[in-house]
Amino acid sequence: MTDVKRRTVLQGAGLVGGTVVAGGLLAACGSDDGSSTAQDDAMATGGAPAGTELGPTSDVPVGGGRVYESEKVLVAQPSEGEFKAFSSVCTHQGCAVSKIEGTTLTCPCHGSEFSTDGGKVLQGPATKALPERKIRVEGDTIFLA
Ligand code: FES
Repeated sequence: MTDVKRRTVLQGAGLVGGTVVAGGLLAACGSDDGSSTAQDDAMATGGAPAGTELGPTSDVPVGGGRVYESEKVLVAQPSEGEFKAFSSVCTHQGCAVSKIEGTTLTCPCHGSEFSTDGGKVLQGPATKALPERKIRVEGDTIFLA
């Protein structure tokens, strides 16, 4: 085999290998229709899957909230009986958003602030909203939905 032919064969093999890897990556990215599920969202933010029990509603103070560290979720109760949940992973550089006061969620690392109104950024350096997490309250218990 000449050098030119050997190079062509090797390049062809590399292309095939690249295609397989790309196919594998596409398969790992979820459905083809562009929709995402709560499970997809949880996986994207490194959080716990749907159905996970977080705890009793009494653990979430009115006008404040609670961070569920292992689930990477924070739940706020801006007004009595109104629960909102977000990923606790800061969209700036990934620190845990841990301070919850009223409707403001604060990241301790660089001071980004987010609102319980959709997780939107109130103050940078973060530029992207905190992803919302769906929850359901059954009786007095909060679950990821
Ligand atoms: Fe949260 Fe920088 S990581 S503000």
